[in-house]
Amino acid sequence: MNSHSVIVARRGGPEVLEYLPVDLVEPGPGEVRIRSEACGISSYDAMLRRYSFPGAPKPPYTPGEDVVGFVDAVGDGVTAPSLGDRVAAWTFGDAGCYAEYVTVSAERTVPVPAGLDAATAVALVVNYLTAEAAMHKAAAVAEGERALIHGVAGGVGSALAQLGSRAGLEMYGTASAHNHDLVRELGVTPIDYRNEDFVARVGELTGDGVDVVFDLIGGGRQLWRSSRCLRKGGRLVLLGMASANRSGRGVIPASLLVVAMMNLLPNGKRSPGMPSLDKVATADMGWYRDTIADLLDHAASGQMTPLVAGRFPLAEARRAHERMAEGGYAGKLVLMAGG
Ligand SMILES: NC(=O)c1ccc[n+]([C@@H]2O[C@H](COP(=O)([O-])OP(=O)(O)OC[C@H]3O[C@@H](n4cnc5c(N)ncnc54)[C@H](OP(=O)(O)O)[C@@H]3O)[C@@H](O)[C@H]2O)c1
Repeated sequence: MNSHSVIVARRGGPEVLEYLPVDLVEPGPGEVRIRSEACGISSYDAMLRRYSFPGAPKPPYTPGEDVVGFVDAVGDGVTAPSLGDRVAAWTFGDAGCYAEYVTVSAERTVPVPAGLDAATAVALVVNYLTAEAAMHKAAAVAEGERALIHGVAGGVGSALAQLGSRAGLEMYGTASAHNHDLVRELGVTPIDYRNEDFVARVGELTGDGVDVVFDLIGGGRQLWRSSRCLRKGGRLVLLGMASANRSGRGVIPASLLVVAMMNLLPNGKRSPGMPSLDKVATADMGWYRDTIADLLDHAASGQMTPLVAGRFPLAEARRAHERMAEGGYAGKLVLMAGG
């Protein structure tokens, strides 16, 4: 039986994404196959599509890190989930989710409440896991601390804002001006990074700076300026390099250099490493499953509302990546595979 997947045929821009018929794969021992309803798009997918770096999948491959759908086949030895169960899963960096059918290890699946919108559910998976790990494992935030979130209107940034609100943080965030009303609704004081000097603005707003900066943008100059927003004892968590999509992969070594320098300077500021999400989750599958289940429950009961920036049919993944390259959206772009 045939199904369809999106394939990155070679490295390049959105034009390298092809929607092709593929053979349906039977799940192996310990695996389940998911008939996808929705999968998430992230700027990480765009970085992998464009650049080769250690650990990146080699073309041809199917991109995508998170999926929500119904179990339609189970491999030997699987006791849960069962056929027909609705589940969410993250692929732990193995990609493969821009597809009508996705095969994953059964232990990576988490039940999804009936009635929860599929795009909303998938928007919670990798972005909110990343935000949880950054906030509670890397930065170890305490109630009442001040945080600056760069790229706060994006998928991970808006997740950080919602989790920061739950953690009782006082929050500031950089975003384009057209997203400022939405940023305020997230409980964050917006800073227009395109037209304002964010270092000066943080100084004006806070007096002596923030306790934590979550930086999703990266780049040597950006990180150095972020470190200047910290008060004594402050932590800078580098958890993304969105600027690589515009400025090239040179931002990666430049970012790592600034982080290393920060940890050498005796100025009371430091940059705790962002733990590798797949290592954290692999080492503690209970944390992985409980965190996603808790987030899905909060979404189902309306206590947390992930932002869905736009929905595209799976077959139009190329158009969705073009939309991502344009920027200016808020939240997570999603590919809809169902129906
Ligand atoms: N560590 C992990 O495990 C992990 C997991 C997931 C994602 N990530 C990384 O996190 C980063 C963000 O991912 P995402 O999915 O949230 O991307 P996204 O949804 O595209 O959001 C990026 C946001 O950054 C804004 N932005 C762009 N340049 C900026 C600048 N110079 N200053 C402030 N804001 C700026 C964009 O807004 P405008 O363009 O509208 O201004 C956009 O809202 C990516 O590098 C991704 O690879 C890391």
